[in-house]
Amino acid sequence: MSKAVQIRQHGGAEQMEIVDVQVGDPGPGEIRIRHKAIGLNFIDVYQRSGLYPMAMPLTLGMEGSGVVEAVGPGVTHLKAGDRAAYASHPPGSYSELRVMPAKNVCRLPDAISFETGAAMMLKGLTAQYLLKRTLPQGGLQAGDYVLFHAAAGGVGLIACQWAKALGLQLIGTAGSEEKCQLAKSLGAAHVINYAKEDFKARVMEITGGQGVKVVYDSVGKDTWDKSLDCLRPFGLMASFGNSSGAPAPFAPGILGVKGSLYVTRQTLFTHIATREANQQMADDLFEVVTSGKVQIRIDQRFPLAQVREAHQALEARKTTGSTILTL
Ligand SMILES: NC(=O)c1ccc[n+]([C@@H]2O[C@H](COP(=O)([O-])OP(=O)(O)OC[C@H]3O[C@@H](n4cnc5c(N)ncnc54)[C@H](OP(=O)(O)O)[C@@H]3O)[C@@H](O)[C@H]2O)c1
Repeated sequence: MSKAVQIRQHGGAEQMEIVDVQVGDPGPGEIRIRHKAIGLNFIDVYQRSGLYPMAMPLTLGMEGSGVVEAVGPGVTHLKAGDRAAYASHPPGSYSELRVMPAKNVCRLPDAISFETGAAMMLKGLTAQYLLKRTLPQGGLQAGDYVLFHAAAGGVGLIACQWAKALGLQLIGTAGSEEKCQLAKSLGAAHVINYAKEDFKARVMEITGGQGVKVVYDSVGKDTWDKSLDCLRPFGLMASFGNSSGAPAPFAPGILGVKGSLYVTRQTLFTHIATREANQQMADDLFEVVTSGKVQIRIDQRFPLAQVREAHQALEARKTTGSTILTL
């Protein structure tokens, strides 16, 4: 048996209940993992609220770390007793114990704690594919400007540090002075408090009127229009989230008017669709974390029983860096 956080219908944080679930043996291609820590992500909010409709009942959670208890037939990259961490479909990490597909589960290097593992897989692999695989025409070179919204958040603080390590000038937006200072202290070259300042005007000032080569936009509805205006000709609008709501539909003609822009909507799960790609990206992430180029900040810890408070804090923009649920 395992404690698990389930919803029976979409809605607010109050829909989440702790229930007891039966956990069996892993089938072909699966493992059973006993969690040591669980990562909280904004996608959990979309799946809970119904922005992303899901089948019910649903155990939430896409990220975790723990010890492999058993492996099913055909699993060769993991064995019982291994320390492991993952970002993976299907949801189910808000639990003590689960059976899940092995494909996206990676062995966790000894130098990385379980808590850090749970705090970094989904957010760190996202920063990896954004900065290394979601690129404008001609790629990004050292010195290039990129605009990254919600820079003091979970994905954001990892991206600030990783961008600096790559020599990029990341312009980070955040919703308060404290958050801006945090993003700056972790590698953002410039910061903009978009709750108070016009971020388009500031981006143009910082870049000498040129604009940026890429905007990484996870805020969505509230930032979409102005983000397009921050791009230089042929620039790339890389949309990867909707923390303020989904952007409104748009007519493609606007992209021509604003300078032959490119638009893409990316999701991590396309990038980690094969075990090989997932492992390659995870190795890259493990390297920047163990070398100290990127530190994983866990700024909030909530016991699993306080999962409602954890969701409320994330939705109310009260968190910075990563948040974990502890067991
Ligand atoms: N597509 C993918 O592959 C992928 C993967 C991982 C994450 N994501 C997306 O990346 C974003 C960051 O994820 P995360 O888990 O690290 O969360 P997070 O950045 O720690 O939290 C979201 C942040 O978004 C900002 N925000 C702006 N408007 C908001 C609003 N109306 N309501 C709530 N927050 C608002 C807040 O920062 P400020 O107060 O500074 O504005 C908030 O702290 C999310 O949109 C998530 O869905 C996408």
